[in-house]
Amino acid sequence: MCGIFGIISNKSNLEVGKLIREGLERLEYRGYDSAGIAVVNNGAIELRKKSGRIADINKNGWLDSIPGQFGVGHTRWATHGKPVQHNAHPHLDCTGKIGIVHNGIVENYQDLRKELLLRGHDFKSDTDTEVFTHLIEEFIAKGFDLKDSVIQTVKKCRGAYGVVVIHADTPDYMIVARKESPLVLGIIPGESTYCASDIPAFLPLTREAIILDDDEVAILKPGEVEIYGVHEGKKKNISPFEVSYSIDAAQKSLDGVQFPWYMIKELHEVPQKIKEQVQIPQTDLDGFCKAIMDADHVFITAAGSSYYAALAGKFQITRCGGPYIDAVLCSEFVDLVPKLSKNSLVIAISQSGETADTIEAVRYARDKWNAKICSIVNVVGSSLTRYSDHVLITTAGPEIAVASQKAFCTQVTALSLIGLRIAELHNTISKNEVTMYKEALAATSKITQQILVEQGKIKEIAGKLMDFENVYFLARGISSAAALEGALKLKEVAYIHTEAYAAGESKHGPIALIEDGFPVIFVSPPDETYDRMIGNVMEMKSRGAVVYSIVSATDEKITSISDYTIRIPFLDSKYAIDTCVVPCAFVLQLMAYFISIKKGLDPDKPRNLAKSVTVK
Ligand code: M6R
Repeated sequence: MCGIFGIISNKSNLEVGKLIREGLERLEYRGYDSAGIAVVNNGAIELRKKSGRIADINKNGWLDSIPGQFGVGHTRWATHGKPVQHNAHPHLDCTGKIGIVHNGIVENYQDLRKELLLRGHDFKSDTDTEVFTHLIEEFIAKGFDLKDSVIQTVKKCRGAYGVVVIHADTPDYMIVARKESPLVLGIIPGESTYCASDIPAFLPLTREAIILDDDEVAILKPGEVEIYGVHEGKKKNISPFEVSYSIDAAQKSLDGVQFPWYMIKELHEVPQKIKEQVQIPQTDLDGFCKAIMDADHVFITAAGSSYYAALAGKFQITRCGGPYIDAVLCSEFVDLVPKLSKNSLVIAISQSGETADTIEAVRYARDKWNAKICSIVNVVGSSLTRYSDHVLITTAGPEIAVASQKAFCTQVTALSLIGLRIAELHNTISKNEVTMYKEALAATSKITQQILVEQGKIKEIAGKLMDFENVYFLARGISSAAALEGALKLKEVAYIHTEAYAAGESKHGPIALIEDGFPVIFVSPPDETYDRMIGNVMEMKSRGAVVYSIVSATDEKITSISDYTIRIPFLDSKYAIDTCVVPCAFVLQLMAYFISIKKGLDPDKPRNLAKSVTVK
């Protein structure tokens, strides 16, 4: 949550404000309720900040034209203090010489603020962040240099931080520090250094990157970085690595085609990303699979879409002969799992690898109960990867749209691959079945491609659903994961209230809401639940519901009792139907996108949300 972008360079005539604003725009998916920039300009700090989105704030080039040599910007997702101008970052100290941006939460800020107020500091915001500026101010006044003042300050602050600090009197460097909030550095050796919350922010400028670790502080000079441990104070020798993914990943164009929104561009990436996921070397999965099979109790945990991928995955792994897996929402993990038995294992799923709730669950299981951790993550080097014994990186590549879609599809695919590898290594299902499942999994790439080609029907149904305030999504078995994902997408990007639940539960309560015209979406592939789904469709129809069904291309029975259908060209085999979650969810993700744009909304940046949820 919150995006940080900073720059220091020895290049002459650099448009610092414009470069920072562009970097912030590439991070706007992390938060977009206010933004600002602070730069050092001839011994003083220039500050411009406002509430609203960056494009509006920068009308008439207000941010671009800020004069200065180097500086930092921030795009905010409010936690402490409303999204108004005085709470926007950067924040300054009482002297106006120190500027700071922060991503994370200072948990003991109330105590620190009280002490600082008693010592006469003037607070201009309601944020937790501002305590940093005044603490640094005090350490500078005591004679510490800027780096040591930052070190002393972060030692006093409990919680999570990615911070960048500039000082009007130190024109040749700035300081960054990190703990549990992401901060990455980009370098053009000898010329420029960038700091950001995520790599895509500086990808158009450089591919040389360093990922800062927890409890590290760094001095950034033009084209040069010095990294120190916060506690031991020792200088570390860390070399940059080359970022392998393409700049396209952070732009709205794909194969020369320009898309209006990241969400639709990223949905168009799904077929290729599934293909890449299926092709990862099988041996990459072996450590992961062995850990699962060696454990006495296996949990799977995640949040949001990643949790729905986890639900599909746990089912697939067990179906392939792996153990039964307990799925627990990461935000509930500590409360619902008061004890883990010896030799437990937790599989954690996360696109960002930075979700605070997921990290809390993993650290609790690992530190308190000695559990092993296996994670499936999309962002290389993210926090979750550091707390894991085995990591599987998904092939989705950078996902900019706040609503996850290609990450979900690759997560489900990766979990299916794990199930199949377990089956291969432990002979839990026949070799022939493994081959059939693998073919079916590989075919989901072509099926999603086909769905994109034939998207007309999805658009048409989007037009019919767009004006409803409530929609039910019903499914049984593994398809529930697709229904849950579809319901979440519609909520997020189209602001329609949705509920997804097991179709058999209707008669236990939810059917009370059904009256003439109430829309119900059934996810009904022809699997072992099909006949029971017919009964569920009928009980809805007979009470006046309008039924929309996701069915196979050759479906007849559910089609004949539905008002509208979207037909998916599954391969004609049990294995293809068992692998139906990705195609079904993909249809619903596309539908949510079309409804969002038909309603004139911004599908990339839904209100109140941010991509990477780094607060609990
Ligand atoms: O980065 P993560 O996968 O850990 O994020 C988990 C959820 O916050 C995320 O899936 C969220 O629900 C998305 N907005 C879904 O579209």
